[in-house]
Amino acid sequence: MYKIAVVPGDGIGNEVVPASLKVLESTGIGFDFHHIDVGLEVYRKTGVAVPDEAIEAIKENDACLFGATTTPVGGGDYKSATLTLRRALNVYANVRPAKSYPVEGTRQGVDLIVLRENTEGLYSGIEFESEGAAYTLRVITRKASERIARFGYELARRRRRKVTVVTKANIMRKTCGLFRETALEVAEEYPDVEVNELLIDVAAMRLVMSPEAFDVIVAPNLFGDILSDEAAGLVGGLGMAPSANVGDDYGLFEPVHGSAPDITGMGIANPIAAILSAKMMLDYLGEDVWAGRIEEAVVSVLRDGERLTPDLGGSSSTDELADAVVEALAS
Ligand code: NAI
Ligand code: MG
Repeated sequence: MYKIAVVPGDGIGNEVVPASLKVLESTGIGFDFHHIDVGLEVYRKTGVAVPDEAIEAIKENDACLFGATTTPVGGGDYKSATLTLRRALNVYANVRPAKSYPVEGTRQGVDLIVLRENTEGLYSGIEFESEGAAYTLRVITRKASERIARFGYELARRRRRKVTVVTKANIMRKTCGLFRETALEVAEEYPDVEVNELLIDVAAMRLVMSPEAFDVIVAPNLFGDILSDEAAGLVGGLGMAPSANVGDDYGLFEPVHGSAPDITGMGIANPIAAILSAKMMLDYLGEDVWAGRIEEAVVSVLRDGERLTPDLGGSSSTDELADAVVEALAS
């Protein structure tokens, strides 16, 4: 029996996470789900988006299935609930696969992972203003660079053994310099992995022109965030992009997309990103057989093309698509 923290958050998190639970429940693997609230709604009620009790409750589980939270832009002291959670759980590696599935109009032959450093960089959260200027501190440490690089090489060993380290070390000589230098140093311990490096701007272009050439991309926080949305855009958009946030002793699994206020409540959010995130959770828990079956079920529903959400060109609802996956799993 796995103990799973279920944290839907705000907006369509409350639509796609329940859809992914349906799929998990239909496997017959024993799950003990613990529902926990965080996010903007919790902030409005209590003044904190992620109460300490929520973090403690989440930690009591084997893993966490997360949706998304809304972060209002500008002003106020509201801190992103997602960033707070990732930091509190010390899930330092953000694994974001972009893989081609049979979705019309999308790039075929893509099978890559953007591995994003999840704890520091430009998302260090250290910001201040002074005399008409505003500052964000970009913190890069050897420790965090080393563990993300190591994670990347280990990941590549289970794939096509190719890693591309992405920085802007020619301009940000100190921060990107340290990230790059550390990653290349650790690479020496992995002679069986082919390691290349690219500057972020060139990497962004190559990702559009020849995405099939990439296997694992290792990048600092902001670059990884941007490249992973770009990669998602090649293979069907945010509704198709799952992710895992993994640390040494915990895993948090979430779709890459946000709370999508523009479609919240309409019942049309694509649940596949959340379902594939649940699939990544099963991989993490060692349930690879079921993980593989869920992916196959998703592929068969996509290939069939009869019950797709509007972002994929269909006219079905979140629940109809999730039900189609459940049916495909059972057949
Ligand atoms: P978003 O990812 O929520 O939406 C971007 C666009 O993609 C929207 O047009 C949306 O309708 C569409 N979209 C996203 N997921 C979809 C799905 N499953 N099915 C169909 N269409 C989908 O990003 P946006 O609009 O920039 O941010 C909205 C809110 O979400 C903000 O408050 C932002 O801070 C937050 N956010 C939270 C994240 C998280 O909790 N991990 C990640 C990204 C944004
Ligand atoms: Mg993002």
